[in-house]
Amino acid sequence: MNYIGSKLSLLSFLEESINKVIDNKCKIFCDLFAGTGIVGTHFKKQGFSIIANDIQYYSYVLNRNCIGNHKKLKFSKLIKAFPEVAERDGSMLLPDDDIKVTVCNYLSKLKGHKGFIYKHYCHGGTQGKEQSRQYFSDENGMLCDAIRHKIEEWKNDKLINNNEYYFLIASLIKSVDKYANTTSVYAAFLKNIKNSAKKKLIVKPAEFFINDQEHTVLNDDINNLVGKVKGDIFYLDPPYNQRQYATNYHLLETIAKYDNPAIHGKTGLREYESQKSSYCSKVQAMKSFKHLILQAQARYIFLSYNNEGIMSHQEIEDIMSLRGKYGYFTKEYSRYKADNNREYLSDKTTEYLHYVVCH
Ligand SMILES: C[S@@+](CC[C@H](N)C(=O)[O-])C[C@H]1O[C@@H](n2cnc3c(N)ncnc32)[C@H](O)[C@@H]1O
Repeated sequence: MNYIGSKLSLLSFLEESINKVIDNKCKIFCDLFAGTGIVGTHFKKQGFSIIANDIQYYSYVLNRNCIGNHKKLKFSKLIKAFPEVAERDGSMLLPDDDIKVTVCNYLSKLKGHKGFIYKHYCHGGTQGKEQSRQYFSDENGMLCDAIRHKIEEWKNDKLINNNEYYFLIASLIKSVDKYANTTSVYAAFLKNIKNSAKKKLIVKPAEFFINDQEHTVLNDDINNLVGKVKGDIFYLDPPYNQRQYATNYHLLETIAKYDNPAIHGKTGLREYESQKSSYCSKVQAMKSFKHLILQAQARYIFLSYNNEGIMSHQEIEDIMSLRGKYGYFTKEYSRYKADNNREYLSDKTTEYLHYVVCH
């Protein structure tokens, strides 16, 4: 996913830097501003037990799949009740990996349904109303509704278990995002349907890595959770600037929750008071960060931040040093594409990995 602040292209930098600091007794890696889950996944692959958390529910869903799922999914009840789900691909005796593809293919071929997404975020559903919106083509909006509805129905009918449920919603979220009629985030939509949004939505199976460890996925403000989470390594990757993830990704939140929220304004924003991040506020960021660092039950704490963030290097160093020996690594980095040509002049930025080895 093209996610603001994603560390996808910084994974080797993170791994190499972290390995220079930690000892070989570390077993639990906590990714506490997990976003897409790409960092937790990387360390899951190295054999760590992962604790992932994020304040956004769509992120919980993504992590519930890529971190929480670590055994094969069989969809046995679903296939038993509806052999036609598998039959669409011509065979019922499918290997475990193929069954995920088959169920996603079945969902991709459903007939569209005029549900919440179509009625509030597509041209056909909103034209002539007070606010006309075009986040998806009519066809994709209706298909998204039909798929989301079907997944919920299967869950209510106990035909899929929680692991299968989160896998399917994660697959839908990651797939539908590729067909959005936006420049990349959901803070605005485009007037005319762009080419990628015109293509028909196809649900691709969201990946997860199978390993032997137990993993935990949480969904809360980290400053509420911090006393209750314990691990060897805390990896912190908070927002760097004032733009709230809750507003940038509100549509993914609604598709994930599918809770018919009250919405308002030009973009159809849902209420997000309880998901406002203090790390996006100049007034609150330092206070929250200090609380988090002082309460952290970890042997090592790492913080990803860049040189243009709300907190200064000195402020971060002063706070992290309260817990032990402080240091940092840096890497030149091409900024996230949606940020280009906006508030900054340079398209390069310096990415910092601050750390403290706790007393
Ligand atoms: C820079 S992004 C993390 C990106 C992630 N490392 C990745 O590579 O996908 C910051 C994340 O922090 C989450 N967040 C913001 N404030 C939070 C808080 N107080 N507690 C937990 N998560 C928070 C946001 O929802 C967002 O997903």
